[in-house]
Amino acid sequence: MLKKIEAIIREDKVTDVTDALAEIGIVGLNMFEVRGRGRQGGIQLVGRAGTYPVTLLPKIQINIVLSDRNLEDAIDTIRKAAFTGEPGDGILFVTPVEDVVRVRTGERGQGAMMYPGDIDSKKAK
Ligand SMILES: Nc1ncnc2c1ncn2[C@@H]1O[C@H](COP(=O)(O)OP(=O)(O)OP(=O)(O)O)[C@@H](O)[C@H]1O
Ligand SMILES: [Mg+2]
Repeated sequence: MLKKIEAIIREDKVTDVTDALAEIGIVGLNMFEVRGRGRQGGIQLVGRAGTYPVTLLPKIQINIVLSDRNLEDAIDTIRKAAFTGEPGDGILFVTPVEDVVRVRTGERGQGAMMYPGDIDSKKAK
């Protein structure tokens, strides 16, 4: 089974998170900038003209498709690396992925989710 983690985290934690993932052998990922709100519904900023609400805050979304046998390791690693303990540390969404097709090789599914030096080749040693 394949899963996808959408990890919405603080911008200044991206390198910590991607380094920590590389450390455990999670190789393939992508990311983009998102704007959104969570439990606090944004924040109040204090400016010269008074206090005004910022309803959509910038975050980075890291997307990782991986085998479900590596899911809990990835979640633990992301949480540890993204954590400050303050509101705004982020949220992870986990969804099932139907299939993967690598364009160059035609590899499908789990077989397309193997990378040189990745978490599975490390565990196999
Ligand atoms: N239900 C949701 N659906 C889609 N995106 C969401 C949802 N909840 C939060 N997000 C996104 O995730 C980000 C995480 O926000 P944040 O870290 O503030 O989480 P939180 O749930 O408010 O927890 P905390 O209380 O720790 O702040 C939001 O800025 C938004 O981009
Ligand atoms: Mg919040």
